[in-house]
Amino acid sequence: MSVAPKPRPITAHDILARKGKDRLVVVTAYDALFGRLVDEAGVDIALVGDSLGNVVAGFDTTLPVTLAQMIYHGSAVRRGVSRAMVVVDMPFMTYQIDVTTALTNCGMVMQQTGAQGVKLEGGTVRMAGIIGAVVETGIPVMGHLGFTPQSVNALGYRVQGRDDKGAHQLIDDAKRLEQAGVFSIVLELVPAELAQRITDAVSVPTIGIGAGPGCDGQVLVLPDLLGLNDTFAPKFLKRYANLADTVRDAVRAYGEDVRGGTYPDAEHSF
Ligand code: KIV
Repeated sequence: MSVAPKPRPITAHDILARKGKDRLVVVTAYDALFGRLVDEAGVDIALVGDSLGNVVAGFDTTLPVTLAQMIYHGSAVRRGVSRAMVVVDMPFMTYQIDVTTALTNCGMVMQQTGAQGVKLEGGTVRMAGIIGAVVETGIPVMGHLGFTPQSVNALGYRVQGRDDKGAHQLIDDAKRLEQAGVFSIVLELVPAELAQRITDAVSVPTIGIGAGPGCDGQVLVLPDLLGLNDTFAPKFLKRYANLADTVRDAVRAYGEDVRGGTYPDAEHSF
C-alpha cells in the first residue's frame, strides 16, 4: 500500500515568486481546528494575527496581546496546518525597542511555534533597520503598512495615505521594507489607487485588507469572513457565510432538546 507523500509547506521563497503571477490567498487562524480547515481549503498563508486580541480574547485593541499568547496560538495553528505557510504576528512592544529585543523575541516565536515567518508592523527608517536585522538572521518577515493596529492610539481606525504627504510616506516605507528583505507587505486601509501604486513600485507581493483590487493578494480575519463576528461590518468586508446565526440556531435547538427531554435519546445512549 502506498502512502500519500506529505505536502511540502509553502515557503517565503514561494510567496515572493508569486509576484505578478497569481494572487495570494491569506486568512487568519488562531487554533489547530481552523488552521486545518483553512489549510484544507487551500489558502497560501495562515496568519496567526494579533487580531486574536479582539476576536478571541475580547479586548478593544491588539495592544494587550502578549508574546506567550502568540506562541500558544501560533503553535496550535502550526499543528493544524500542513501545506500553507504559517506566519505569526509579533505583538506590541516585543520588537520595537531595539534589534536585540526583536531578534530574541522573533527567534523565540520561530523556535516555539514552528511557524515559517513573522509579521512586524511599520516601515520607518528605524523599523526597517530592525526588520533588516531579523531577516538577516534567517527569519522571513512579512511587513505591515497603512493602518497598523498596534498604533491605533496614534492613527485612529481610519484609511491612511489619503493626502500627498501620507501617500509618499507609504510608498517610501514600502520601498524601505523591500530593501530590508521582507517577503510580502500587508497594506491595511489604504486607498485603492495608492495600493496599486505601491504594488507597482515594489518587487515583493502586497497583500491588501481594505486596500482595493490592485494588490497581489488579499487577507481577511477569519471570523469576519465567516460572519461569526457579526458586530464588525467595515466597508471592505465581504462575508462568505453567516455562521453567527448558524451557531445561535444550533445551540438554541440543542437547548430545546435538552430542556424537552428529547436529547439524549436511545439512539445517542450506550
Ligand atoms: O492581526 C491581524 O489579523 C492582521 C491582519 C488584519 C492583517 O494583522
